[in-house]
Amino acid sequence: MAVELIATGRAVPSRRVSNEDIAKTVDTSDEWIRSHTGIESRYIADDDAAVSDLAVEAARNALKMAVDRAEVGEKSPEELAETLDLIVLGTTTQDYYGCPATSCLVQNRLGAKKAAAMDVTVACSSFIYGLETAAALLSSDRRRRRALVIGAETLSRITDWTDRESCILFGDGAGAVLLEKREGAPAKRGISKDRGLVRTVLGADGSGWENLIIRRGGSRNPWKTGETVAINPHVEMNGRAVYNFAVRVITETIAALMEEESLTIQDIARIIPHQANARIVQAAGKRLGIPEEKFFLNIGKYANTSSASIPIALDELNRSEQLRRGDLVITVGFGAGLTYGGNLIVW
Ligand code: UT7
Repeated sequence: MAVELIATGRAVPSRRVSNEDIAKTVDTSDEWIRSHTGIESRYIADDDAAVSDLAVEAARNALKMAVDRAEVGEKSPEELAETLDLIVLGTTTQDYYGCPATSCLVQNRLGAKKAAAMDVTVACSSFIYGLETAAALLSSDRRRRRALVIGAETLSRITDWTDRESCILFGDGAGAVLLEKREGAPAKRGISKDRGLVRTVLGADGSGWENLIIRRGGSRNPWKTGETVAINPHVEMNGRAVYNFAVRVITETIAALMEEESLTIQDIARIIPHQANARIVQAAGKRLGIPEEKFFLNIGKYANTSSASIPIALDELNRSEQLRRGDLVITVGFGAGLTYGGNLIVW
């Protein structure tokens, strides 16, 4: 039995914000942002759009792909949605604080009547954790067959637009992957598993909890009645500490995933890193001796969309036919917590 990734979708807001646009409001420049991060632009959601709007659009696009490519027997995305057993949504920017889970709003709008729904909130690692969670839940009960895993963010809502070190980094967007449990189809290469999700590395280092944090609004520092709010809840970041952590865990995670299956870098078709900073990826690649072209980077266009960055990248590769059945793909990422992880997938 294997849990295969059978279709993908994405949604990106229409409003493009360039580095030059940001340089009009904070003391930075296009040259600095490009040279320090690889970012050229980002997309920002309209004021009346919530994260569930992006998540639903990405999910519908994934369901439509599955129907269009005849991966499923159902004749429409709506019919397919009714067969879903599970929706896992990774996000740091839920529609509503605490409850309800945003995945429930998505479930309702998709008409996925029989699907269980849950949010995963480990910041930028949420999609990686979510994929493993969904695959495990499909595998643990024979009645569950199909799941949607979505990563969706409106980071623009939790960005301090006066902080030049962090506001240049973030963008909004969503990506979705449809999973189906199938009788195993043997992987093309000499790998011990069938097609689909082969294995996942997950980890956390809570000692770094303060390095990426939204300090106000939770039970530790609740807003007080009558308090004048100068700025919305926003992310505070120790950029250098996160950078160093990221390079280390990306290196270790890729090495662990390859080692556990006795793979070499020649076996891997593509590595899809969390798109946080192109320099982080380049530094990790250098440490591992992996050529830069192995890594798929689209950070230039979208900036850092947190839990959406990996599924958006998967969809771009999938739609442009840059992924072929049997290709070995590694996802790898890190985020607030601090958390990290990676998935090894036979496409
Ligand atoms: O999903 C996880 C989210 N977070 C991350 O992934 C963040 C990881 N960290 C990073 O990507 C990098 O640390 C940053 C992009 C945030 C910063 O780059 P850096 O090369 O580590 O710069 P730095 O913090 O060492 O700062 C170098 C200089 C400083 O000036 P001085 O003190 O040398 O005069 C900063 O004030 O660059 C300055 N600086 C800027 N200058 C122009 C910091 N941000 C900017 C800016 N424009 N936007």
